[in-house]
Amino acid sequence: MKAPIRVEVNGKVENETVEAATPLVDFLRHRLGLTGAHVGCRSASCGACTVLLEDRVVKSCCVLAAEADGCSVRTVENGPDNGLDDVQQAFVDCQGMQCGFCTPGMVVSVRALLDRNPNPTRDQARHAIAGNLCRCTGYTNILNAIDTVAQRRRNSLMD
Ligand code: FES
Ligand code: FES
Repeated sequence: MKAPIRVEVNGKVENETVEAATPLVDFLRHRLGLTGAHVGCRSASCGACTVLLEDRVVKSCCVLAAEADGCSVRTVENGPDNGLDDVQQAFVDCQGMQCGFCTPGMVVSVRALLDRNPNPTRDQARHAIAGNLCRCTGYTNILNAIDTVAQRRRNSLMD
């Protein structure tokens, strides 16, 4: 069974028809070509598929594209047209840019954290990325990146 949906993705309105059972991550990757959200576990465990749905962090493997009808979706691609946003730049500067599977979801979660809490504590930062798993490299550099963005934003407010 197919359903028409109207979704605003990274500021662009998309009118599409999807199978009722199509996961949002597959819609984003295969229909819209937004391949930043990755597929790891398909069971809401790894966070590789993290996106924002109506500004809430969700695992897009476990949300149907049809459920996003009428909603806004923000993916890791939702940044400047050229170059990196400040979160991505801090990941680079702090060596928090790890593999292509975990990093996009981490970046989305960190953007959401800093939008709702510009000065997170270490525990709040840990909590914010608790749904984004890395099985190989670790989290210290990512936590350092979060501190760095927050500090840079505070400094820019004082300029
Ligand atoms: S693929 Fe969605 S949480 Fe792992
Ligand atoms: S899963 Fe990406 S660096 Fe570990």
